[in-house]
Amino acid sequence: MPLDPSTSWSWVALALCVSLAVAWEAKTRRRRLHLPPGPPCVPVLGNALDLPRRHLGLEFQQISDKYGDVVYLDALGQPILLVNSVKVAHELLDKRSANYSDRPMSVMAELTGFGCMFMVHKYGNRWRLHRRVFHQSFNSDAVVEYRPIHAAPPAACSPRSSPHRESSSARSNCAYPYCAQCTSASPLMRVAYGVDLEEPNDRYFQVVERVSAVGEEISVPGRFPVEGLPSLRYIPEWFPGGAFKRWSAEAKRYFQESVNTLYAVAVDGLHKGTTKESFVTRLLEDVSSYDLEGGDEPDLEAFIKSVAISIYAAGSDTVNLLLHAAFFLAMAMFPDVQRKAQAELDRVVGRDRLPDFSDADDLPYLRALLTELARWHIVTPISSPHSAIADDEFNGHFIPKGTVIIVNIWSLARDPELYPDPDADPTEIAFGFGRRICPGRYFAEASLWVVIASVLHTFTISPPVDADGKPVALEHDTATRGVVAHPGFHDYVVKPRDAQAEQLIHDTRNEA
Ligand code: HEM
Repeated sequence: MPLDPSTSWSWVALALCVSLAVAWEAKTRRRRLHLPPGPPCVPVLGNALDLPRRHLGLEFQQISDKYGDVVYLDALGQPILLVNSVKVAHELLDKRSANYSDRPMSVMAELTGFGCMFMVHKYGNRWRLHRRVFHQSFNSDAVVEYRPIHAAPPAACSPRSSPHRESSSARSNCAYPYCAQCTSASPLMRVAYGVDLEEPNDRYFQVVERVSAVGEEISVPGRFPVEGLPSLRYIPEWFPGGAFKRWSAEAKRYFQESVNTLYAVAVDGLHKGTTKESFVTRLLEDVSSYDLEGGDEPDLEAFIKSVAISIYAAGSDTVNLLLHAAFFLAMAMFPDVQRKAQAELDRVVGRDRLPDFSDADDLPYLRALLTELARWHIVTPISSPHSAIADDEFNGHFIPKGTVIIVNIWSLARDPELYPDPDADPTEIAFGFGRRICPGRYFAEASLWVVIASVLHTFTISPPVDADGKPVALEHDTATRGVVAHPGFHDYVVKPRDAQAEQLIHDTRNEA
């Protein structure tokens, strides 16, 4: 049907007027809305000098104590929203997750090669694909299949292979506290690449340590000026101030070499019969069942390498910190809790076998201990920053597009109003929020449960002693300037609980 030109022009004019009115209303509305409260800014730097230097959780909490649960900061022009309320965190990151599931751009992640891991991806098809494939192997049902891997005593804990046995004193007679490090990396290595870690000095375990160290360094707010001034990335390595380019080039070389080596070990090993079936080999063999459509990921091999290294790198260090550092510290500091957990284990499991997953429902005190441990030691005090995809309004305040959202989990986990009863309270906040919530949490919980149950069933953990044999006073140090909090590790006294426990340890090691 022919269109009357005068009618169509009227429609165009009307549409134009409506668009202008909507745009005008949006603009005036933005003007009417204020930014959330925050400390005063200085020219150019904004609030850069207000950012924490030593203890992210505590120093951010001090800012919130002064300005409220939602604070606006400006670091060299980068808007930051500091959130100190579980309700607000849920409101923004869960309920408005379509707008708050992005991650801030990180130049250093790109320069070090870490940008291939999906925890730093921008919100979009590529992230969705990586996360979906990860989820298929790590959702709550899928992780049940890994129980035999968690439950198998790691080879590293057997007397023949632990290099730490020489150094662990006769009084401790235990490889656990020392090789708890690879106890946490071991199941992930097996699931991701089909490789059994052999000892804490295993070269594959060292990959985790080095990659985690780089990850922590690049996550320290304000550590690299290039994050605030991205054009600095183009300065040459030899130029004054170019040291970060040399450092990141070296980190990238090591990272890529590790990613390639681990992949090759998984693939070649399966052909030679030296490694087992793994995430990598399953994905290669059965790529059709993983629905790679629409993921903007043309290179299959690069894609598999990226997801596999995300599993290993994101998982090992976090579990390791909670187990190796926080658990042993907590047990040495709170002997009554330890005794109660042991009494429950004795009652439910008996003394002639190790606990296994079938006992879990009958061990509520142990479950509460694990829950409380995850609250007591928040591994990632400010979680992983999210960022706003578009302008938003919250409680009458304007939140500009690109604002980085920092939730102070460290502070929230210490709120006595929220957590009056640690036995009953949930610890989900330790794993983050919304669409970016930790996808490895079910795996982490299983890993932690079985090791903690086995260690408590067989050993007693006590504080280290000084030269006079007196127990050393212990402190729970949660200070960190980076993304993860290391509470420090001490030379605890770890002894078999009694002769029966010693026999059980001996028998278990001989079966390994
Ligand atoms: C005690 C152990 C762990 C803690 C406390 C922890 C904590 C977290 C937190 C706070 C986040 C950020 C969530 C957010 O952005 O809101 C995260 C993300 C992530 N975690 Fe964990 N995690 C743990 C174990 C694991 C394990 C075992 C794996 C792997 C099997 C894993 C894989 C990941 C990945 C891949 C992400 C990025 C998710 C994304 O950006 O979409 N984590 N974790």
